[in-house]
Amino acid sequence: MKSKLFLSIISLLLVASIIGCAQAAPASTKSAKLVVGFAQIGQESGWRDAETASIQFYAGQNLDTIDLKFADAQQQQQNQIKALKSFIEMGVDVIGLAPVVETGWDAVFAEAKEAKIPIILVDRMAKVDESLYATFIGSDFILEGNNAAIEMSRLIGGSGNVVELEGTVGASAANDRKTGFHDELAKNHTGITILASQTGDFTRAKGKEVMESFLKTYEGQINGVYAHNDDMALGAIEAIKEAGLKPGVDIKIVSVDGVRGIFEAMAAGEANVTVECNPLLGPQFFDAAAKLKAGQTVDKWIKSDEGVYRSETAAADLPNRKY
Ligand code: AHR
Repeated sequence: MKSKLFLSIISLLLVASIIGCAQAAPASTKSAKLVVGFAQIGQESGWRDAETASIQFYAGQNLDTIDLKFADAQQQQQNQIKALKSFIEMGVDVIGLAPVVETGWDAVFAEAKEAKIPIILVDRMAKVDESLYATFIGSDFILEGNNAAIEMSRLIGGSGNVVELEGTVGASAANDRKTGFHDELAKNHTGITILASQTGDFTRAKGKEVMESFLKTYEGQINGVYAHNDDMALGAIEAIKEAGLKPGVDIKIVSVDGVRGIFEAMAAGEANVTVECNPLLGPQFFDAAAKLKAGQTVDKWIKSDEGVYRSETAAADLPNRKY
């Protein structure tokens, strides 16, 4: 009788421990590392390469604690959506996304929310309900546009004609830099006319191509170029030189980003102002991701600290530039 009771207790304990193991299994398969999926836009600019390097470098320095899954979308939203879906499928802890355009994210963000995977928007915003993402890490693009307008007005003495090289159509960086520039001119610099605005897709090659056509259409009328990024400004500088004019002198150049190439152009007197936009977001990104994995809350907008740089100090600034 005693031995029967003993056997039943043993078998009950065994069953309980098997059930316990089965329930514990998912937790033990979950990586102790911070597993992050990052969907990058592509490689359209020096700025973007610097951002990618910042994220990959940080992960590479912390291989014992971070597992980074990186996808390059080659500037296609559908590739970014595919990447997000595969990150959800993998069950990563956090998703990072630099959205190529602002709209069209609701469905895939809702899938991530359903899977309890927080999304961090990096450098560009998405037009979705606030509940669908955890935080936005990046710049105030409207302010960048305002600052560019103030600088352009100073450079051309408050009146004259400007052409605008816009970023990728539908990107928050392009939309807001345009709004910020146009609003500031309309409010406080009414002597300035924007002759034309056209996208150069944030690339040097397209910036040059569009500038060539502006120079033909508005021959002798352009006083300034406002480019939504430095790469397009560098392309425009080439076009202006090929047209036999002096960039930075005959036509003033104001752009956004602060990459090394524009500082070199400013030091050579071929560009005038760059409004900084910081791409070195790796440390902030992984810090926020770790907090989210730990169930902590983070600010809805983690803003970057940025300056405005002029040609007068470019040679001295150059050695301190990190990208
Ligand atoms: O989203 C930030 C913008 O994207 C940068 O200004 C530009 O250079 C990049 O490609």
